[in-house]
Amino acid sequence: MPMSKTAAATDEIRYGFIGVGMMGQEHIRNVQALPGATVVAVADPESASLAAAQELVGDTVSSYLSTAEMLAKESLDAVVISSPNFTHRSVLEPLWETSLNLLIEKPLCTTVPDCLEVQSAAQHHDGIVWVGLEYRYMPPVQRFLEELAPGEVDGSGSSTGRVRMLSIREHRFPFLEKVGHWNRFSANTGGTLVEKCCHFFDLMRLVIPSKPISVMASGAQDLNHLEEQYPEGTPDILDNAFVIVDFENGARASLDLSMFAEGSAFEQELVAVGDLGKVEVKIPGFMEVSRGRQAELTVGSRGAGWPVTTSLIGTEESVLYVGAHHGASYLEHVDFCDAIRNDTAPLVTVEDGLWSVAMGAAAQIALSERRSVTLAELGLS
Ligand SMILES: NC(=O)c1ccc[n+]([C@@H]2O[C@H](COP(=O)([O-])OP(=O)(O)OC[C@H]3O[C@@H](n4cnc5c(N)ncnc54)[C@H](O)[C@@H]3O)[C@@H](O)[C@H]2O)c1
Repeated sequence: MPMSKTAAATDEIRYGFIGVGMMGQEHIRNVQALPGATVVAVADPESASLAAAQELVGDTVSSYLSTAEMLAKESLDAVVISSPNFTHRSVLEPLWETSLNLLIEKPLCTTVPDCLEVQSAAQHHDGIVWVGLEYRYMPPVQRFLEELAPGEVDGSGSSTGRVRMLSIREHRFPFLEKVGHWNRFSANTGGTLVEKCCHFFDLMRLVIPSKPISVMASGAQDLNHLEEQYPEGTPDILDNAFVIVDFENGARASLDLSMFAEGSAFEQELVAVGDLGKVEVKIPGFMEVSRGRQAELTVGSRGAGWPVTTSLIGTEESVLYVGAHHGASYLEHVDFCDAIRNDTAPLVTVEDGLWSVAMGAAAQIALSERRSVTLAELGLS
């Protein structure tokens, strides 16, 4: 079937989905809630996933065990790729032959060489190529970023001024079960610091307008999944780590990850400290949200009297489906559809996907080899 590069402003964006497990179904729910967008078809080689997706979308939506068949039969504007990390590169191959607009789940790929291949193919692609690093879109993260702006050049006008230190903490529950337990092995995910933490490396690059230069890390698999057995063996994924990233402009950022911290008031905490002040945001996980806890933003100044103010951040009114990430995926689809309609550049690019994977891959090497790893070693400079 012919596939359109862009839809006119009044047209519905016709979505197809590749991989409809947990995240694919989350994307479907978002698109169902999104005005001007329609779920047209879903594809997944696992019949149980297809059946679950079909239950969500109803009989009017076609479902396929084969992506090739879906692409051959359906007329689509956009495709969301939510297959396991290690499949992203091969799943993308037939899509480069189309001019479809693509939203690829994070991490872009599991390795830097695979990301570079995708980057090279994407440069010749007619449609939009967008990477699903949607933590940028969490309303509390957006409020945090607004407080720091416009400090991109000299920091003037922002609450922090030029950011010198950024610390990010994620204290959360262990990895969930996935179809075919693919997420239990680093070879399939890229390792925890790629799989999970690419979101945070992406946020570091958003907050600090400079290139990451080198990465130090310490981490281990101390508690989680050690009792599980699969044909491939015992899972080998990290469940805790500290990472430090140095940037070209002299700023530094840290990540503190614990995946056995279910009993946390807040799941993510971001703290930026600069020449003028400090901004902190604390974001509750889904369990605490269900108990009524809201995100908190604290802004403090180094000025006279060292004033500090804290405010609560509720649900963003424009979000019609909140999902598991404070409405971030919904807001991501709003911008993705706007870019399709207006034929504008993606706001979360393949380059963002590449750097977020490279920083995670550098951290994985740093902790296993107990040394500082430069991004130049991985071919990024
Ligand atoms: N952005 C986020 O916050 C977020 C959250 C969770 C997962 N993810 C990402 O979404 C992707 C999927 O994760 P998930 O949690 O939904 O996993 P999942 O195991 O629940 O679902 C993956 C689905 O992909 C299907 N699949 C496997 N190989 C395929 C192929 N070659 N082509 C098409 N489908 C295939 C599986 O049968 C399964 O139904 C991963 O890349 C993951 O990292 C992102």
